[in-house]
Amino acid sequence: MKVGIIGSGGREHSICQIIKKSNKVEKIYCFPGNAGTAQIAENINIDLENFENIKNLIINKEIDLVIVGPEKPLVEGIVDYLRRFKIKVFGPNKIASQLEGSKIFTKQICEKFNIPTAKFGIFKNIDDVKKFLKKTNFPIVIKADNLASGKGVYICEEFNEAINAVEEIFTGKFGKAENLLIEEFLKGEEMSFFTIHDGRHFKIFGTAQDHKRVLEGDRGKNTGGMGAYSPSRLISDELEKKILNKIIKPTLQALSEIGTEYQGFLYTGLMIVNNEPYLIEYNVRMGDPECQTILPNLKTDLYEIFIACCEHSLDKIKIEWLNKKSLCIVLCSKGYPEKIKKNVEISNLDNLKLDKSNFLFHAGTKLENKKIYAIGGRVFNFVSLSDDFASAKKNIINNISALDWSEGFYRKDIGYKVIK
Ligand code: AMP
Ligand code: GLY
Repeated sequence: MKVGIIGSGGREHSICQIIKKSNKVEKIYCFPGNAGTAQIAENINIDLENFENIKNLIINKEIDLVIVGPEKPLVEGIVDYLRRFKIKVFGPNKIASQLEGSKIFTKQICEKFNIPTAKFGIFKNIDDVKKFLKKTNFPIVIKADNLASGKGVYICEEFNEAINAVEEIFTGKFGKAENLLIEEFLKGEEMSFFTIHDGRHFKIFGTAQDHKRVLEGDRGKNTGGMGAYSPSRLISDELEKKILNKIIKPTLQALSEIGTEYQGFLYTGLMIVNNEPYLIEYNVRMGDPECQTILPNLKTDLYEIFIACCEHSLDKIKIEWLNKKSLCIVLCSKGYPEKIKKNVEISNLDNLKLDKSNFLFHAGTKLENKKIYAIGGRVFNFVSLSDDFASAKKNIINNISALDWSEGFYRKDIGYKVIK
C-alpha cells in the first residue's frame, strides 16, 4: 500500500518511520517532509495551502491512505476536501477541528456540558479588556482565539503585562484575531492525554508531559515543545476514568449533537488540580514532540490502526504497547524561539548510536546534495526507550554529545519531575 503523510516536523518523521515497519506499506510520500523522511520516503515539495495540488498528487501517485500531521490544514478543511474525491484520509473534519481552531468553540461546549475548565471571558476590544483588568485578580491567562502554534498564550502577573499581551494579540502578532479569551489561572500540573478515534469508537493512545518553555526550570518563552516524557507521572486508573467521563465523552457527545463525528488523533491538554482534571485545550492532532515520544513504544501495526480508523473498525483492533519509559529531548537552533540562523550544515550524524530503543527524528532539516542543513528552530528529536527515565536520558545525552553540533542548544532538565 502507498501512504502519504502531510507535514514536515518531527511528528511526521516519527509517523513515517513507525508506519514503515508495517509489512503492508510499500511506499511513503511526504508532503513536504524533511531530511529525515527523505531517507526513508519520497519527499514532495508542495505548498500545504494548495489542496487541489495535493489532491492531484495523491490521485496521480495512487496513494491509498493519507495522514494529516499538523493542525493548520485540518482546521482549513483538508479532510473534507480530500474525502470529496474518495481519498482515504486520517484526521478530523473541518467542524470537529474547531476544537483546536477556535478556543471559544471549545469553551462553549465546556459550558453546555459542564466540562471542567478554567473560568473565562471573551473580549472583542481593548476598552472592555481594560475595564475587566482593573477589577480582576492576577495572575490571569490571555489567549488569542485563533491558531498561534502554541505561542498565543500569555500568563500575566500584572496589569501592564496584560495590556501588552492584549495589544499584541489585537494587532495581529499571531494572525488576525477578532476575539481574545481571558482565563482564570489554574495552578496544578499539566498532562497531555491522547486518544485515537474512528468516528464511532475510540481508544487511549498514551499520556505524556511536555516541556513548553524554552529555559530550564520551565521558564522563559513558550515554544512548540522542548522535550517530553511518556507516560505522565500523574496518570492512574482513577484519573483516566475522570478524564474520559468528565471531558472526552461529553465532548464527543457535543460533536454528535451538532451532527458531526470525530476521526483522528485527539490531544487533550489538561491541568490536574488535586487529582481533578481541567481541560486547558484540545488539539486535533498528535502533539509534537509527544508523538515522537509515544510512537516508539507502540507494538501494534500503525498502518492497520489508521486503516481501522478510516473504516470505523477501531473496536476490532487491540492496541499494544512495549510499556517502556520514553523520553525525548529536542535539539534547537541557537536563538529559538526568536531569530535563528538558517541553512547551517550539520555533520557527525554517523556518530549516533541508533537502534530499536534509540531514535533520531528530524524536524527543521533539509537534505541537499547529500548534506543535511538546519532550517528551523526545532531541528532534531532524540528519543530513547528504557526501563527508567534516567537511563533513557543518559542515552540521549550521549547521542547529543556525539553529534557535537555547536549551533544547537537543548534543555538539560527534560523529565526533571521523574528523574531524581
Ligand atoms: P494552550 O496553548 O492553551 O495549551 O496554553 C499554553 C500553555 O499555557 C499551557 O500548556 C499551560 O502551561 C498554560 N496555560 C494555558 N491556560 C492556562 C490556565 N488557565 N491556567 C494555567 N496555565 C495555563
Ligand atoms: N507539544 C505541544 C503541542 O504539540 O502542541
